[in-house]
Amino acid sequence: MTKLIAANWKENPRTEARALELFRAVAKIKPSKNVEVAVCPPFIYLERLAEVRGREKRHHVTLGAQDVFWEEKGAYTSEVGPKMLRSLGVEYVIIGHSERRRWLKETNAMINKKIKLALRDGLRVILCVGEPLAVRKKGESAAKNFIKTQLKKDLSGIAREKRNARERVIAYAPIWAIGTGRHDDPKDAREMAEFIKRKLGRPTLMVLYGGSVNSRNIGDYVQYKSIDGALVGGASLKAGEFKKIIANVAKIK
Ligand code: PGA
Repeated sequence: MTKLIAANWKENPRTEARALELFRAVAKIKPSKNVEVAVCPPFIYLERLAEVRGREKRHHVTLGAQDVFWEEKGAYTSEVGPKMLRSLGVEYVIIGHSERRRWLKETNAMINKKIKLALRDGLRVILCVGEPLAVRKKGESAAKNFIKTQLKKDLSGIAREKRNARERVIAYAPIWAIGTGRHDDPKDAREMAEFIKRKLGRPTLMVLYGGSVNSRNIGDYVQYKSIDGALVGGASLKAGEFKKIIANVAKIK
């Protein structure tokens, strides 16, 4: 089964020239039929990266955005709608990342509206869920309950078949593991991936793991059938390291 490796560049790199350099290096990575690579840069770089992708025929790397708004158009200063993204050839959108929930005070209700419009307009949604450290410290069932509530609220009113198609992706990214170097125990991540699949109904849904993934630990996650790939932050900003991650995923049978 093809694994998905999504690079979340967050607010990086600092200039367009560096973004182009990084994207060219990533796009040169040899495609493998076992791995789909999606690069999610800041909005402002998407158009240029889409041009490079088309011009240099690097179609094996898909593009994703890191957010989207819940209205298609109108008087919503600074917001970007799903059709605008689709018109640039963007396929994926990350919704509900914990950094947006934290710094921008995004609520489950806002996330729910974003998912609905993004799905309607044909974007493939990567919904991020994950518990904070205080919840994890209470144990596995507290963490599962937290995730269950997030899924319920974020996916409220979205038909089961829409929730479960393979292009709907859930990224399990525990907050305490993001950017901390403290990655989750792969067995616990597998348990959570299976829990998410059970909760949402069908096994066709993709579940990624996110949180301090690097070339040394990626294999420990994707070796499991229930973990369909990874959301990679920091390690996706170094082309050499990202290339090793992809090579290690490609090795998995
Ligand atoms: P990280 O980010 O790889 O830098 O920990 C992961 C994420 O944002 O999900």
